[in-house]
Parts: sequence; C-alpha cells; structure tokens
Amino acid sequence: MTDLILDIQDLHKSFGPQQVLRGVNIGVERGKITVIIGKSGTGKSVLFKNIMGLQKPDSGEIFYEGLDVVHASERELLDMRRNIGYLFQEAALFDSLTVEENIAFPLEEMLLWTERGKIRDRVHEMLDIVDLLGAEKKYPSELSGGMRKRVGLARALAINPKIVLFDEPTTGLDPVLTQNIDELIQKVNRTLAVTCLIISHDIQAAFHIADKIAFLYDGVIEVSGAPHEVRRTEHPMLKLFMENAMNCFKDTEAVRS
Ligand SMILES: Nc1ncnc2c1ncn2[C@@H]1O[C@H](COP(=O)(O)OP(=O)(O)OP(=O)(O)O)[C@@H](O)[C@H]1O
Ligand SMILES: [Mg+2]
Repeated sequence: MTDLILDIQDLHKSFGPQQVLRGVNIGVERGKITVIIGKSGTGKSVLFKNIMGLQKPDSGEIFYEGLDVVHASERELLDMRRNIGYLFQEAALFDSLTVEENIAFPLEEMLLWTERGKIRDRVHEMLDIVDLLGAEKKYPSELSGGMRKRVGLARALAINPKIVLFDEPTTGLDPVLTQNIDELIQKVNRTLAVTCLIISHDIQAAFHIADKIAFLYDGVIEVSGAPHEVRRTEHPMLKLFMENAMNCFKDTEAVRS
C-alpha cells in the first residue's frame, strides 16, 4: 500500500464566478518528489494555500497525516504548519533582515526557540546544505536571484519539516541556476528524507527530478504517473505543453553552444 503524507480529494475552489479548482485529486507519497505542472494561472498557488489551510476550499477534502485540514482548528493548523516547509514563489525573504535573521525567523516564531547558540547552529547547518556559508550577514538585496532562492530553501528547511512545498522554485533563473536548484532539491530529498511537493511550469525539471508528475489543467489533474508513463501521454494539451518545452530547451541549448 502506498504511504500518503498528503491526500487531496475532489477539491473545488472558486473566486466569484471563476472556477479555479474543479475537483482536484492527488496523493503525495511520503519520501518522494511529486511535481505538479500546469500553465500560469491554473490554480497552482491556490492549491498550496488550501493545503496550508490559508484558504478554505468550497468543497472537497485535504488530509495531512490523517488531519482533516479543511475542518481543522487554528491550533491544529499551527501544529501542522510546524511540520511543513514552504518555499514561496519569488522566495519572499524579509528585505530588512539579514540572511541569518531570515533563516532564524521560523525557529523563533514557529518553534519558539530562544537559545541563541542553538539557533546559530541550526542556521549554520542550513547554510551549509544550500552552500551559502559566509553569507550570514548579507541582506537579500545584496544577493543574486539564485542565492535568494537558496536562502528561501534554507529558511523552509530550518524547522526540520516532514514535507516542503515549493512554489515555482526555479522561475526567473537561467538554465544553469535552474539545474543547481533542481540538484539541491534532490539532495534535500535524499539526504534529509524530506517529502517534496513542487508546483512548476518547468516541465524539463519535472522530468529530471520527479518520482511522480501530475498535470493540472482546467482545474483538474488530467494526467499523473511516473515520468516514463507521463512521457507516453496521449493527452493533447499535455503533449503540446511538452513539445513547447522541448522547443524552448533546444533554443537554450543552441544559445549555450
Ligand atoms: N484571493 C484571490 N481572489 C480572487 N482570485 C484569485 C485569488 N487567488 C487567486 N485567484 C485567481 O485564481 C487563478 C489561479 O491563481 P494562482 O495564483 O493559483 O495561479 P498559478 O497557477 O499559481 O499561476 P502562476 O504560475 O502564474 O503562479 C488566477 O486567475 C487568479 O487571478
Ligand atoms: Mg503561482
């Protein structure tokens, strides 16, 4: 039997007349990398907000480790969020805090740590994982886009989460930096045994790193499976999406060579 850390069943969410999620079904297997792909504006970020309990669906169920997220109390949601790392779209670092302070933030605010030495050690450990030792005192404005993403990842990992949600981890990065982040996600998944759920429109990356790919289209998961299964899809929109991605890939390869 598959061991699901997260199970989403028939999720619906509308904003006024706009039906964004129209019956999403997906199970996220523990310890694996699951990538949800879909075009911009298809409701990927909305899905994450519903998982975190930051938005309520109109109907449907979300279970995190058996917790009924849709009907959970604020207290239960706070407990749940202590186990979930969240890498926001655009990294969303606090501009007025240094790298070190950004990573320490969830330790102080969510885990209520107060011991300076313990916090410093954890920050050090996280910066080592994302290969940014030495950047402790820098401010986000002094970092490149790729470095900011890595600090965002270090902050998401600091609380020692069971699962990390990545909202577009590589958007806006060049192909080389994209590959760095993809490798980092794989390293985190393998060495820390963290379940990774990624939403992305980067189909190349999905095929590189995913154990499972799910295609969100028109408010539902239209296709899902292992990369080799998804690659053989006959779904016309997914085929088109993959062909477009391949053409972009050829273009970037041409520029690089
Ligand atoms: N709080 C909200 N109120 C009204 N409409 C919203 C709200 N949040 C999202 N939407 C709408 O829902 C749709 C899906 O938004 P969402 O941010 O989930 O897209 P996305 O798939 O994450 O896109 P992208 O790849 O560009 O990040 C959009 O049309 C958006 O305008
Ligand atoms: Mg989004």
